[in-house]
Amino acid sequence: MVKLVFFDLDEHEQDVVRDAFAREGGYEIDLHPDALTSKNAPFARNADGIGVFVTSHVTREILDRLPNLKMVAAVSTGFDNIDVDACRERNIAVCNVPRYGDNTVAEFAFGLILALARKFRPTFERTARGEFSRTGLQGMDIAGKTLGLIGTGHIGSHLARIAHGADMKIVAYDPHPKPDLTRDYGIRYLALDDLLRESDVISLHVPYTKATHHLINAERLQLVKNSAFLINTSRGGVVDTRAVATALNEGRLGGVALDTFEGEEVWIEEEFAGTGEPPAAELKEALESFAILHSDRAILSPHNAFNTREALERILATSIENIRAFFAGNPQNVVAGTYRVPAAPPAGGGRT
Ligand code: NAI
Repeated sequence: MVKLVFFDLDEHEQDVVRDAFAREGGYEIDLHPDALTSKNAPFARNADGIGVFVTSHVTREILDRLPNLKMVAAVSTGFDNIDVDACRERNIAVCNVPRYGDNTVAEFAFGLILALARKFRPTFERTARGEFSRTGLQGMDIAGKTLGLIGTGHIGSHLARIAHGADMKIVAYDPHPKPDLTRDYGIRYLALDDLLRESDVISLHVPYTKATHHLINAERLQLVKNSAFLINTSRGGVVDTRAVATALNEGRLGGVALDTFEGEEVWIEEEFAGTGEPPAAELKEALESFAILHSDRAILSPHNAFNTREALERILATSIENIRAFFAGNPQNVVAGTYRVPAAPPAGGGRT
């Protein structure tokens, strides 16, 4: 019998997972609404597999308390919430969902571009107060402006399609350029610094790694146009929040929209719940991100770009497939070389 423990699932998601595994024998399922923490880790003490959303932090300490664990189903694309080095050392497969919301996140990012260009935040705040003056609400056309895409993977490619449809010019920076995007949407690949100088809108679509930590920092912000918009729907740590707040306050940046931001785990209720007192560094980051909120030219959203009904259905379906495939001895979507296939199928599974 394979024991699976899922965290972070609302009632509807619990029903989907329960139904998916009810149709076949061989699995024992345990479902929890809260994120995995050191406090509730004992629920997964005997688990062969766990399912976690990005709000669960699968740390080395937690892994030490799950001796039977063979796979972690990351119910997400990003997996920087999981200590993949610790998983690799223990031959625990981390399987993610590489594609579930390419269009979903790109649509949200484009929405943020429009929101900044047309001043949605001050517009809607004003009308909600019952004031209907247009003073100070003049916006900017999107057509003809240059979008700088940093990262042209799945999500960046979809945003290129949408932006092309809106008559934007597109430049991009990615160590792995895609000739198709140049052919279909006229994308010009540039060095990062050149992209920053040319772009009217800069949108980030890179994974969070050592190489992308604070990719947008004080030095690089010196290169951007004073009127430029910065959009981050990737991961908070890709942008140095303090540097962005400073650039915004000094009028060296036209606007900023952050769906993901440093310190978000302190502000976002679903991420903070049950994690206990945040460390001082996280609190500092959280306060710096809060400083940005006091500007009409800034928008923060609670890591919500993925959050549509359709995307959630796709993500759960792939996570369930990842689990079935792993315990049938055919792992799929394994990330960061976390798993080496043993001579025999994984114990506790062996289903063929
Ligand atoms: P992807 O893996 O398809 O594309 C990432 C691209 O970034 C690749 O083309 C890669 O070559 C490029 N890249 C890697 N390092 C780079 C660097 N140093 N500079 C420039 N480009 C670099 O990933 P996908 O699916 O497009 O997702 C991007 C990120 O979006 C994810 O890693 C995740 O963190 C974030 N995301 C955010 C969501 C949200 O709700 N806000 C939802 C889903 C994903």
